[in-house]
Amino acid sequence: MKLWGGRFAKQTDKLTEDFNASIGFDSRMYQQDIQGSIAHAAMLARQGIISEQESHQIITGLEEIGQELEDGQLQFSVAAEDVHMNIETFLTAKIGELGKKLHTARSRNDQVSLDVRLYLRDEMAELRKLLLVLEDALLKLASQHLDTIMPGYTHLQKAQPITLAHHLMAYFEMLRRDLGRLDDCRQRLLSMPLGSGALAATGFPLDREFVRQQLGFIEITRNSLDGVSDRDFAIEFCSWASILMMHLSRFSEEIILWASEEFSFVTLDDGFSTGSSIMPQKKNPDVAELVRGKTGRVYGDLITLLTMMKSLPLAYNKDMQEDKEALFDAIDTVKKCLLVFPPMLLTSRFNQEAMARAARGGFTNATDMADYLVNRGLPFRDAHEAVGKTVRYCIDNRLTLDELDLATYRQFSPLIEDDIYEFIDVKACVARRRIPGGPAPEAVQAAIEEARQWLAGVQNEG
Ligand code: ARG
Repeated sequence: MKLWGGRFAKQTDKLTEDFNASIGFDSRMYQQDIQGSIAHAAMLARQGIISEQESHQIITGLEEIGQELEDGQLQFSVAAEDVHMNIETFLTAKIGELGKKLHTARSRNDQVSLDVRLYLRDEMAELRKLLLVLEDALLKLASQHLDTIMPGYTHLQKAQPITLAHHLMAYFEMLRRDLGRLDDCRQRLLSMPLGSGALAATGFPLDREFVRQQLGFIEITRNSLDGVSDRDFAIEFCSWASILMMHLSRFSEEIILWASEEFSFVTLDDGFSTGSSIMPQKKNPDVAELVRGKTGRVYGDLITLLTMMKSLPLAYNKDMQEDKEALFDAIDTVKKCLLVFPPMLLTSRFNQEAMARAARGGFTNATDMADYLVNRGLPFRDAHEAVGKTVRYCIDNRLTLDELDLATYRQFSPLIEDDIYEFIDVKACVARRRIPGGPAPEAVQAAIEEARQWLAGVQNEG
């Protein structure tokens, strides 16, 4: 018997039943569904809509069901369609007729909107912790590599020397903003929708404020149609997830490149690499590749939700049942990536020699040579021209800037003296860039210290 069966003369077709059911994927919200129902039942009694004793029995029943589900003693059924009606069915089976009072002044529409928010809140707390673990790993690594010189790139062409610490801290900053976005998203998520009913609230005198407090929400939804019909919080979460994954994917791409023999900047630990079934010599950066690959999947989840919601008339439409699989997939995927990323990073060995060697090639100190001339009074544009010619000469003669003798240098500019060699040493080039935000060890050290304090602060929040 369907909970909504009264107006139907015929049974639901088996195909419809299967097609319509969401229990196969929404069962994971059972604790949240029970939590919401307990708050609702407690409030119904406070408002005199059911008796205290009835409320008590309902709540005890729900708690027992929660435990039994946890222990695997209860089986969900497709006939009961979704997690909400499965639990109501369990309740009525357990406490009898009284169970039928629970759904007074409530609809599955406000119920599901609540459950998804509660579920997402719990998962977001978990993801937040994992993100902070990754931030911590980055700080740890960065502080070990303050003096590890490497080439910085633009267009994937060597550009100017930086340090590995500076490069890692760039990711720290991206993830810091990701944390901020997650916290913002939480603010909007925590709007309590119960009381919206199916769409037009209810004539019963519910105490929505009490339910909000019980469930630890920040506010109550301010419009019943909106409370049941938007899923922007799920979309916002998937946007957050997509941006985070985009960051992780860029990082992964670099790790993949760096692990190639051509770069040889990093050696991944055996525990975080995999082999080939045919090529015995292979050691592949599959973890990083999968993070890069799964990024597309999370974007897909975002697009699924955006497309599903597009053009839906107010208020609830069954299309919205499709929100869950995409949302859950994004949660699960991001969680897996965040779990594996820190140990993959922390077990990697960075090849300082290869990085330094690479930094010395590609004329990464050319800008500094131009700056040297500027210091001696040449306008920057003229200095650029003179260094450009010097570089061309070096390329033609297979030399680096450091290898030119002074007489040759002076053909390009008479302003050059023999302190040029010291000035364009890649270490000096990095050390000079010590303004805030720069790669000099002292500047990055300061950035790391600030970051540590920030991290300690946000670890205590949330
Ligand atoms: N399983 C449904 C969902 O996930 C619950 C809400 C159903 N509401 C309805 N009016 N059919 O969206």
